[in-house]
Amino acid sequence: MKLPLVELHLHIEGTLEPELLFELAERNAVTLPWASLDELRAQYDFADLQSFLDLYYRALDVVRERIDFADLTRAYLARARTAGVRHAEIFFDPQAHTSRGVPLGTALAGVRDALDRSVDEWGITTKLIVTFLRDRPADEALQILREILADGVAIDGIGLDSAEVGYPPALFTEVFDLARAHGLRLVAHAGEEGPPDYVWQALDLLGVERIDHGIRSLEDEALLDRLVRDRVPLTVCPFSNVRLRVIDTLADHPIVRMLDRGLLACINSDDPAYFGGYIDDNLAALDAEFDLGPDRLALLARNGIEASFLTPAEKAALLDEVETWLTARREPASGPATAIRSS
Ligand code: HPA
Ligand code: ZN
Repeated sequence: MKLPLVELHLHIEGTLEPELLFELAERNAVTLPWASLDELRAQYDFADLQSFLDLYYRALDVVRERIDFADLTRAYLARARTAGVRHAEIFFDPQAHTSRGVPLGTALAGVRDALDRSVDEWGITTKLIVTFLRDRPADEALQILREILADGVAIDGIGLDSAEVGYPPALFTEVFDLARAHGLRLVAHAGEEGPPDYVWQALDLLGVERIDHGIRSLEDEALLDRLVRDRVPLTVCPFSNVRLRVIDTLADHPIVRMLDRGLLACINSDDPAYFGGYIDDNLAALDAEFDLGPDRLALLARNGIEASFLTPAEKAALLDEVETWLTARREPASGPATAIRSS
């Protein structure tokens, strides 16, 4: 049995693997600036968030038709299934597509095609969270949200992503007010590269229910008190933090400190095609680095379940499965000592 996982911080655009990228380039007759897979992979050496985003948006040029969006989403779900993911709340960036002439309806329909079959095909329940690019005008986000609501496309929530510093949450209050009025769930990237003040703003001005990343919250004790008191989840992405140089090495990652401080932190993959691995790879690397062991792996899995937008009954069912996994790990005769991946 695999540890049952929930993934809450995953940009579907960030799951575009080099092989699929080349396949879609051929399908859509797009001329790429990279001659080979190796030449493309050589670009995956990022100085910071912006240098990653430049490549991330550029690579999307190959994703054009409804079927491309469905194929991209299906490829993620297939890989997530092997990781033990049972529920995924997936980010989708409309402006990364509308800004290059792909109609919103085309992109969203393709993603929905894959998500609508996800339970049957992969045994994975999903939610869809539309994320707005904070380095573009709030009015544009508002326009797109109105369009989605008018078209009746099934989305579950909204979030905020892209270049953080200089684009505080306060700019987006109107967008989040509209989403709240329509019963959508609210999340935002904050405290990745930006200061703790952006986390405060996301909580107090946008009313978000989860903070994506939030790693810089560790610089503000009063903020930590607030996050612990209100059990505000932080969707932490260790490989992303290393690759985007938020921290130097995985050994410097504060995840254990975060858990010890009582934060509701869970592990996620962010943009797995670019950052060196999926959710299971992140957990396995943390386990190797910090010797987490079955108890803390189970704690991280439980935190993800609690932090999700699943119903109480759905959460309870997954939590039961985590306990079953843990019991098997505590009785070595019935299973291997540590195994995120063992089946
Ligand atoms: N941070 C901000 N925006 C993003 C990211 C990220 O890690 N990935 C995709 N868009
Ligand atoms: Zn992210």
